Amino acid sequence: MTRYGFIGTGSMGSMLVRKFIGTGLVTPDAIAASSKSGVSARELAGTTGITATPTNREAAENADVVFICVKPVQVRSVLKEIRDVLKQDALLVSIAACVSLENLREWAGDHVHLIRIIPSVTAEENAGISLVAWGRSVHPEDKKLVLRLLNAIGTAVETDEKNFDLYTDLTSCGPALIVSMVQEFAASAVRTGAVPPEIAEYLVRETLIGTAWILDGNQTTFDEVIGRVATKGGSTEEGVKVLRARLPETMDEVLKALDAKRKVTAEKVAGGE
Ligand SMILES: NC(=O)c1ccc[n+]([C@@H]2O[C@H](COP(=O)([O-])OP(=O)(O)OC[C@H]3O[C@@H](n4cnc5c(N)ncnc54)[C@H](OP(=O)(O)O)[C@@H]3O)[C@@H](O)[C@H]2O)c1
Repeated sequence: MTRYGFIGTGSMGSMLVRKFIGTGLVTPDAIAASSKSGVSARELAGTTGITATPTNREAAENADVVFICVKPVQVRSVLKEIRDVLKQDALLVSIAACVSLENLREWAGDHVHLIRIIPSVTAEENAGISLVAWGRSVHPEDKKLVLRLLNAIGTAVETDEKNFDLYTDLTSCGPALIVSMVQEFAASAVRTGAVPPEIAEYLVRETLIGTAWILDGNQTTFDEVIGRVATKGGSTEEGVKVLRARLPETMDEVLKALDAKRKVTAEKVAGGE
């Protein structure tokens, strides 16, 4: 039986544990997990049947696969703590943004195989993208195992690590960015004074869900969806023209802001906690 260790059982770590168990690919008795205070790990153990360990070292020492699910700035100290108990040839999977494969190699040592993944909250619904970048020494069977797990809770996209930042904006940050845009759409309707916030949110939310189904169902392209609604000479077309005139600048600013923040985090990551 492949044994798993999870260090960090916050939002993403606990989701991965729950989802991997839900797929049936991993059984609760194969998972040991730890967290800083121990509270979230014990809660997760209570609801899933995994083992919560009092220390990170105990979560890592018997694991064939160790998922690092702490905040980027915490990765260095966690790896320092578990480095000497990691099994020879253990697979270390980091989900942390801004922590490079090179950082991981330096902090974890050469005796482990490294993989970086960036999951998305969309995995909660077995949808969306998990990005994957392979470390140099990773084995074909490591790749097979990780792809099997990630493809069971969405779609794994393998890519070079150099693409991670921008792809992360689109996939992992995407849900918050997309919903923020849609929220502004509803807020605009509310500002007319003709619709209460809860009705506007309901109408836009159901429309967003329906649009996602259209995109998914027939593999419809963005242009096809726009073309079906914003017909020539109609009022929607006028709205689309405004968006196309104004949004590019805003979206460029959004990506620049994400990039700037990432650079600050990357500097902190190198120093650790
Ligand atoms: N949120 C997202 O959508 C998303 C998407 C992709 C990747 N990520 C990455 O996922 C990672 C975790 O993010 P999150 O949103 O799950 O954060 P979170 O909810 O704050 O969870 C962080 C977890 O790390 C634990 N922790 C902190 N220091 C620790 C230590 N020294 N030893 C053991 N555990 C420690 C915390 O323990 P306690 O429970 O005791 O506080 C908590 O369980 C980040 O690196 C982030 O870049 C996040």
